[in-house]
Amino acid sequence: MLRFASGAFLCAVLLSLVDPAAAQTRREYLLEKDWKFTKGDIAGAADPAFKDAKWQTVSVPHDWAIYGPFSGSNDQQEVKIEQNQEQKASVKTGRTGGLPFIGTGWYRRRFTVPQYKADQRVVLLFDGAMSDAHVFVNGKEIGSWPYGYNSFYFDVTDALQASGENTLAVRLQNKSEASRWYPGAGLYRNVHLIVTEDVHIPVWGTYLTTPEINADLAKVKLITKVETPNRAFQPLRLETEIRDAAGQVVAKTSTPLVATDGLAFEQNLVVPKPALWSPETPTLYTASSKLYAGDALKDEYSTSFGIRSFKFEAGKGFSLNGQPRKFKGVCNHHDLGMLGTAINTAALRRQLTLLKDMGCDAIRTSHNMPAPELVQLCDEMGFMLMVESFDEWKTPKVKNGYHVYFDDWAEKDLVNMVHRDRNHPSVIMWSIGNEVPDQSAPGGGKIAKRLQDIVHREDPTRLVTAGMDRIDAAINNNFASVLDIAGFNYKPMRYEMANDKLPQGFILGTETASTVSSRGVYKFPVELAKQKKYPDNQSSSYDLEACVWSQTPDEEFVKQDDLGFVIGEFVWTGFDYLGEPTPYDEVWPSHSSYFGILDLAGLPKDRFYLYRAKWNADKPTVHLLPHWTWPGREGQPTPVYCYTNAPTAELFVNGKSQGKQTKAPSDKPQTRYRLMWNDVKYEPGTVKVVAYDAQGKIVGEEEVRTASKPHHIKLVADRTKLAADGQDLAFVTARVEDAAGNLCPDATNELQFNVKGQGRFRAVGNGDATSLELFHLPRMHAFHGQLVAVVQTLEKAGDAQLTVSGKGLKAATLRLETSTPVKK
Ligand code: GAL
Repeated sequence: MLRFASGAFLCAVLLSLVDPAAAQTRREYLLEKDWKFTKGDIAGAADPAFKDAKWQTVSVPHDWAIYGPFSGSNDQQEVKIEQNQEQKASVKTGRTGGLPFIGTGWYRRRFTVPQYKADQRVVLLFDGAMSDAHVFVNGKEIGSWPYGYNSFYFDVTDALQASGENTLAVRLQNKSEASRWYPGAGLYRNVHLIVTEDVHIPVWGTYLTTPEINADLAKVKLITKVETPNRAFQPLRLETEIRDAAGQVVAKTSTPLVATDGLAFEQNLVVPKPALWSPETPTLYTASSKLYAGDALKDEYSTSFGIRSFKFEAGKGFSLNGQPRKFKGVCNHHDLGMLGTAINTAALRRQLTLLKDMGCDAIRTSHNMPAPELVQLCDEMGFMLMVESFDEWKTPKVKNGYHVYFDDWAEKDLVNMVHRDRNHPSVIMWSIGNEVPDQSAPGGGKIAKRLQDIVHREDPTRLVTAGMDRIDAAINNNFASVLDIAGFNYKPMRYEMANDKLPQGFILGTETASTVSSRGVYKFPVELAKQKKYPDNQSSSYDLEACVWSQTPDEEFVKQDDLGFVIGEFVWTGFDYLGEPTPYDEVWPSHSSYFGILDLAGLPKDRFYLYRAKWNADKPTVHLLPHWTWPGREGQPTPVYCYTNAPTAELFVNGKSQGKQTKAPSDKPQTRYRLMWNDVKYEPGTVKVVAYDAQGKIVGEEEVRTASKPHHIKLVADRTKLAADGQDLAFVTARVEDAAGNLCPDATNELQFNVKGQGRFRAVGNGDATSLELFHLPRMHAFHGQLVAVVQTLEKAGDAQLTVSGKGLKAATLRLETSTPVKK
């Protein structure tokens, strides 16, 4: 079966039933179900006659490696990580996540093009395939694309069978030592089948800009490409309507294509009184075009866009729609924790909902092109994007990294990146690289210039940056001056020096903090530390531990607040990700990161509230740490911190005041952003904080109680009403609580999951970077009292019940309601 990409209904048995899309000129289908998959390089697998019945049947998006098992020998790398200032090579075990993604894999699928007529064109569009994709249709290789993160497409019309049934085969191969993190494996993003008439608008065929915007009007310029295979040029006309978010037509035009235009229309429209796009007001418009050849309707194409202006100005910094602001951003890798890299819109939406609540307004897609679903969601939910391309140019970081392809593919990769995403209002800037060693290599500046020029050629409306770590070299050899925006990773102490030397007049913190912590873990004594390791392979959640090259959040905050020319930051990272378990790169079983503000399961660590207090001015934040269940620590100093956007708070232990603290600058950056009571002696009972505004009025309070023994499970879902589309997900947090409803902060009970009714268990994660339990099995130990189970809907509407049980615990059941999505 094929799924319509644009709507949510299924086109049942192809050809034999009436195709509801037959009247449409353009049809887009997701090739989602009924793929056959095997690992291994199989001779003859591209041949249509090949027998694949014994292969696994899978749905795409599919990540073949997320099912494990984990092993420290998967992609073990003996390397000296120069970025981490390592002096000699050592064996890194979990660097790429310890999952079995290395090797070759084959996917096969039969497909029929519904209502196919001679002269129509058929395109296969891959949103990303990990990696080194070779695509075969009916045994014939129609193209390849090595970079696993990019989108690419092929016109496969000439390879189709007249008889109707076609065989698509895709060979993918992942090499060892090709990545610094878990890349995933397989057809992990969507595959689209696009059918158009002979005369049509090609993939990513429009380029929409808004050259002038004021309160009265926005000028919209729409360039639309046309392809006319098989036919001589004929009178072509493009009718375009712009609709606002409510669906009202606000502008329209009709344009003939005159021979001198080549094969592109230029249309200029005016939108009166435009509603501007911003993270706070993510208003979208749609330009819908109809392409006619003579009187025949040949194609219909929609371009979603937003109207916003921005400036980067020397001395003034960044402004959006005339309002100065600084990027409150996070860097994210592409994996979705326990779901691996298989893209899922509900999982992305949950991430963005959490980031929104934190006050985050920007995302850097480190260090590669994102899934198109993320870009679309950022348009709709209001996030500014730095879309990044590469982690390597010519000089390697890892033996089989992108440098292998750079000379032949860099331009093609940049062109596809820009063409796919340049109409999105969320995309504010492009990044041509992250910490590329070419920064300090002879000729590096020339490569930067060439790549930046390519991006400008394809999109003159946006600026280009790169994340630089070798600050002195990059400044001295002019690499940093070449870039539109000088982006520095982990250099808050040197922003002033860099700004003095550089011509741009503003500096961006492309990557900041890299503080490490594990949710629910508190280490004593509480102290600032670099590269600190503990026997349990965890890091302390007092948010004082970082790497030799990195900082605590507060050190960056000081510079962001004090230096007007610094235009914002992108914290490393929003979410923990698979791979790069620094500071335990050499210590198995660590295999996922400790950098996240939220853990691998998407549960907020304490740091979430430190950023929320700073970034989200609209909501009060009063958060206390640590937990207050410390048998054996009675009478010992147990520092208590409060992350709040209030200036002052008073702390009470069992009702006794521990004094008031007020945020104030000092030689320690932390005193400006955190309230800290360092001498509190632990006694069981309650710890409570009362926060006051500048006038002394109470603005919030938070109390944490000592927990007794685990008693029951409590379930909290991110959403309980879901779409019965077979894709939607509920993320259900299971908490182990005592009889009084307190979280048992050290509970490690093994929990079991059972889904009945119209849903299925999809995955579970506990955020523990050392856990080797498999995400797809319906059982897992709680980590510090919590974990997150993921329930996926079926295509039938109804209720789903998730029951979570554990030995000695009162079980809990949660009801989810799924309903049939409305056809678009
Ligand atoms: C940076 C790098 C990131 C990540 C981070 C960890 O140097 O750009 O990809 O490795 O360090 O702190």
